[in-house]
Amino acid sequence: MNKDEKELYYAQNIAVPETPKPAGGVRPWLRTKVVGMPLPRVDAYERLSGTAVYPSDVVLPDMLYCALLRCPHPSAVVRSVDANNAEKMTGVRAVMTGASKDADILWPWSSDVKTRLFDPQCRFEGEVVAAVAAETPYQAWDAVRAIKVNYEVLPFVQDERLALDANSARVHREGNKVKTEKYERGDVAKGFAEADVVLEQMFRNESEIHTPMELHGCVAKWDNDSLTIWESAQGVYSIQARVAEVLRLPLAKVRVIGKYMGGGFGSKLQADKSTIIAALLARKTARPVKMFLSREETFVAAGNRPPGTMKLKAGVTRDGRLTGLEFSGVGASGAYPAGGTALLDWLVRDLYTCPNVRTETTDVYINAGPARPFRAPGHPQSAWALEQMMDALAEAVNMDPVDLRLRNIPSFSQARPGDPPYTSTGLKECLEKGAEAFGWKEARKRTAGSQKTGYIRRGVGVAAGLWVAGGGNPPSTVIVKLFADGSANLNMGASDIGTGTKTVMAMVVAEELGIKPEMLQIENADTGTTQYATPSGGSKTVPTESPAVRAAALDVKKQLLELAAQDLKVDAADLELAGDEIVSLRDPSKKVKVMAVTGLKKRGVIVGVGYRGPNPEGKVVNPFAAQFCEVEVNMRTGEARVLRFVAAHDSGRVMNRLTFDNQVFGGVTMGIGFAMTEARVLDRSQTGKMVNKNWHDYKVPTALDVPTDMTSLPVELVDSSANTTGAKGLGEPVTIPTAAAIANAVHHATGTRIAESPMSTVRLCRIFMEKKQA
Ligand code: MOS
Repeated sequence: MNKDEKELYYAQNIAVPETPKPAGGVRPWLRTKVVGMPLPRVDAYERLSGTAVYPSDVVLPDMLYCALLRCPHPSAVVRSVDANNAEKMTGVRAVMTGASKDADILWPWSSDVKTRLFDPQCRFEGEVVAAVAAETPYQAWDAVRAIKVNYEVLPFVQDERLALDANSARVHREGNKVKTEKYERGDVAKGFAEADVVLEQMFRNESEIHTPMELHGCVAKWDNDSLTIWESAQGVYSIQARVAEVLRLPLAKVRVIGKYMGGGFGSKLQADKSTIIAALLARKTARPVKMFLSREETFVAAGNRPPGTMKLKAGVTRDGRLTGLEFSGVGASGAYPAGGTALLDWLVRDLYTCPNVRTETTDVYINAGPARPFRAPGHPQSAWALEQMMDALAEAVNMDPVDLRLRNIPSFSQARPGDPPYTSTGLKECLEKGAEAFGWKEARKRTAGSQKTGYIRRGVGVAAGLWVAGGGNPPSTVIVKLFADGSANLNMGASDIGTGTKTVMAMVVAEELGIKPEMLQIENADTGTTQYATPSGGSKTVPTESPAVRAAALDVKKQLLELAAQDLKVDAADLELAGDEIVSLRDPSKKVKVMAVTGLKKRGVIVGVGYRGPNPEGKVVNPFAAQFCEVEVNMRTGEARVLRFVAAHDSGRVMNRLTFDNQVFGGVTMGIGFAMTEARVLDRSQTGKMVNKNWHDYKVPTALDVPTDMTSLPVELVDSSANTTGAKGLGEPVTIPTAAAIANAVHHATGTRIAESPMSTVRLCRIFMEKKQA
């Protein structure tokens, strides 16, 4: 690479590729025409007009509706099921219970823990006991209510802090421990001895529910021995694999379609028991079956962010150097193994430079619905503890909290073997640019005075974060087809889970082939017609799929130039695609319109195939974040409001400014829910039932709960050594520091550290009252 080219990279904040061969053997974009523009969604019309067909919209001729009978107790054994009355009811076409021979199937909660589809042992409120298929949903529900079940109700445990007590009820015969994981580097005792200040604090977070707009469910239909499923899912191939495994079908006999879906946040990465039941009922009745959970069912049985209790001890020197971090956490998988402590300690291990770190996490069973991955598994919880601790340490050594963080920024991943460097780290830029955009120093000074007087108090807070992944390795295959009239088809297996995947990918094709996005037809998320893709999750869809899309478009371009070279009688290497023309670089008078290329006209279509290359070896690709907010707290009522928010994010290249900002605002809103209102409330002492399993009592933030003054600040460091589009992923980082930033602002406003989430009005009011009385 010559010096001028390097200057171009620098000028545009693009990291100069270090290796002679950049990722995937493809050069990073130096200038883009389409990528990076604020292009509205390519499917905005379909989504807004209602013409987009979501799985819950699918209606097939002769379709039956399914409803499930679920155990109302947190722990019980089914002694008997009497479905005689239900079977005779109007419209009922099939009833399935544990006694049904065709339902004698094992459901894999994990590779080791399996229970029957309708298992007599019920370990959480919401375990499936029976299923009905009927002509209408109302008939199905009426029949479910007519099934008589004799339960032996058992004692239960629902608090992760009590799960391992000897006298607690046992969720599984083997005991309530799922597993303990330990990590250690350096010597924490030595670290604490070197510190000038050592602090220790307990933190806790309540369980949250995903509550996506579209409910969980599917429509299942058989044609002879092959099954088609329209499922609201984050990945059609993961659903296909699970269904094929459980029903012992060849993959080719299971087609899963999910071209649109209404949100998942991690709860729709995998097939649910209900999908299998729908398929079995469809087979039994020889009719298509629609099986969508009710809102109440999704609250108890479709996953949650696990509750967790964390103890964090931290040492710092007077000049702001972290010397030791010791973390122990207990999380709850729910009734079956489900990653109750997945990544719970990750930020403690890896966010800041610290030579001495020890962590221990213990995952336990409780009698509640199994957890599922939830937008940045473990990370918002980890940030809740670590980022509040950083705030407390800063105060203890009399440093600005932003400065303390800046003092401890790593350039490599300490938690991974061999300390691999990051391909890029914008943590410093996020903190500095975010602080500047927020007016951090001034705001801290301005609000500091309100701490002592009055009952309406203001404060500001900051928190940072990283996300453990930044785009996956292969497999990812994409096909782009260019038709003879210059329009094109993009064929990819990845689901657009509402984030704008289709739009971003269309922009990548447009960038390479000069096609207007509206000339592009997108085919996605159908195992019958599109290419293999891993589920859309882990903030990896854009960084994983966009390089494959780019590669497919480049493959089309290469073939097109070769065909044009035959017409123009020049070397293909001398040709360039410019708009709708192919032009010779040496002799610009030699050119041909794309539509006039003989080879394209003859063939009718050029098919380009693109594969995702691997991430660079020995390096770590992670996105980084810093968020700032100002809050107002009423010391008499306990009401806290977020007044303004600045979210600074290093996620590599901004592919589309509109979808980027959408992610930021959505993630911050979700973080506000975690911080202020959202909590699964179980009646732990009496019935063990969830008491707020609806959108009225479970408080998701609304437009009234988010600040109008919200700024998305991309810290755009195009990461050209990560992959060929330079993006690192954004979906999860946006919700990682949020709650901790708000808690720090509440502390700044009130002088009180709120260690337990959510910081509801009731909780704050109680804490302020107790403090006043003390
Ligand atoms: Mo996500 S929690 O990987 O959908």
